[in-house]
Amino acid sequence: MADKKAQLIIEGSAPVELPVLTGTVGPDVIDVRSLTATGRFTFDPGFMSTASCESKITYIDGDKGVLLHRGYPIEQLAEHSDYLETCYLLLNGELPNQEEKARFVSTIKNHTMVHEQLKSFFNGFRRDAHPMAIMCGVVGALSAFYHDSLDINNPRHREVSAMRLIAKMPTIAAMTYKYSMGQPMMYPRNDLNYAENFLHMMFNTPAEIKPISPVLAKAMDKIFILHADHEQNASTSTVRLAGSSGANPFACIAAGIAALWGPAHGGANEAVLNMLDEIGSVENIDKFVAKAKDKNDPFKLMGFGHRVYKNFDPRAKVMKQTCDEVLAELGINDPQLELAMKLEEIARNDPYFKERNLYPNVDFYSGIILKAIGIPTSMFTVIFALARTVGWISHWKEMLSGPYKIGRPRQLYTGHPQRDLPADRD
Ligand code: SDX
Repeated sequence: MADKKAQLIIEGSAPVELPVLTGTVGPDVIDVRSLTATGRFTFDPGFMSTASCESKITYIDGDKGVLLHRGYPIEQLAEHSDYLETCYLLLNGELPNQEEKARFVSTIKNHTMVHEQLKSFFNGFRRDAHPMAIMCGVVGALSAFYHDSLDINNPRHREVSAMRLIAKMPTIAAMTYKYSMGQPMMYPRNDLNYAENFLHMMFNTPAEIKPISPVLAKAMDKIFILHADHEQNASTSTVRLAGSSGANPFACIAAGIAALWGPAHGGANEAVLNMLDEIGSVENIDKFVAKAKDKNDPFKLMGFGHRVYKNFDPRAKVMKQTCDEVLAELGINDPQLELAMKLEEIARNDPYFKERNLYPNVDFYSGIILKAIGIPTSMFTVIFALARTVGWISHWKEMLSGPYKIGRPRQLYTGHPQRDLPADRD
């Protein structure tokens, strides 16, 4: 609501009064929508101080390291909920009762298979194609199969598309991995829960169906929860922007997958493991920390820093704890974990990182757990995309459930003013 006002004084012009809107928690926002009437725009590359929308889904307090999904702290959801219950919460705003949960789980289970013809899409890719390249292509292609749920103005179609995407992402992710391995793709099984089913499709073969470790399934489910949603991050903003043009949900999610792929965003988990490989040993840490601080060197410490968190990313804390549990349970002594912990210690005590409030983020430890589960590094961002699909589609639904306009930013033009072609042209 707008009970406060801001006044903009521009030299030579009458003051402009702008409403100040207050949310439930978090910073007030200055409503600049009327600014166009003054013939001016705001200027904010990278949206460092821009709220792009109103939302009720997720709240982040970057200074306190707080992350709430529909008001519930991520630590509580990671410890006491499961991924599908968290999906229900993000999509519907409240936790499901027993009957609602059972119906939701059953609906997801009955949408996990993909159209048999979708397999042929994989054959067009090289076996060594990056899995994210395949995910972008195959998820975008889903709109070619589900014409019965593409009317974005139909709430029922929006609901069906959301269920289909949440249900099919693990199947498509596992198909991507199997394709890269040259192994037969595994069908989903309805007798397994969401995380077990994913690990079954990833690591079982028609020749041998091994039971899924409950420890690994629980860790996988927790990783899905920790990646489910995160307010208006780059990929979620991409999904909202694509959705604002009326694009179908599968195309919007494919756009989100593409945006997530970048190493500054979801691609960081893969980049962390590659960075730890490159650092190699504790002796080399100082050299790489120096590179990260050198403004002439594009190298950044992967898994460190965040646009919003200027304190610990609460997800990183849970991830680190899960890392310890999984490695202990599996009896794995991963030297990369030791290296990562030493790197965190050195960086966190370095004035450059302290002055800039650079802390480990969600991607810093996730790769070490994924590696322990047996997931190859190239699949790490695919896992992130799988888990984030519910966040993307929740924001997409929230935007379409009320009045919205196509996202169309303006610019500060600093190019040539109008000029004519040379007169001597024929
Ligand atoms: C995710 O937005 C989300 O919510 C994303 C995410 C989600 O769940 O959707 O949380 C998932 O993307 C996590 C972030 C994963 N990315 C990385 O780990 C890549 C490494 N991190 C950096 O690229 C960077 O920290 C960003 C991209 C994450 C944030 O960049 P910002 O907000 O634009 O911050 P910045 O680049 O302006 O940094 C401020 C300063 C700069 O130095 P100065 O110009 O002030 O001297 O800190 C420096 C930066 O150079 N800095 C780093 C650094 N991160 C920031 N220096 C070295 N190493 C780093 N990692």
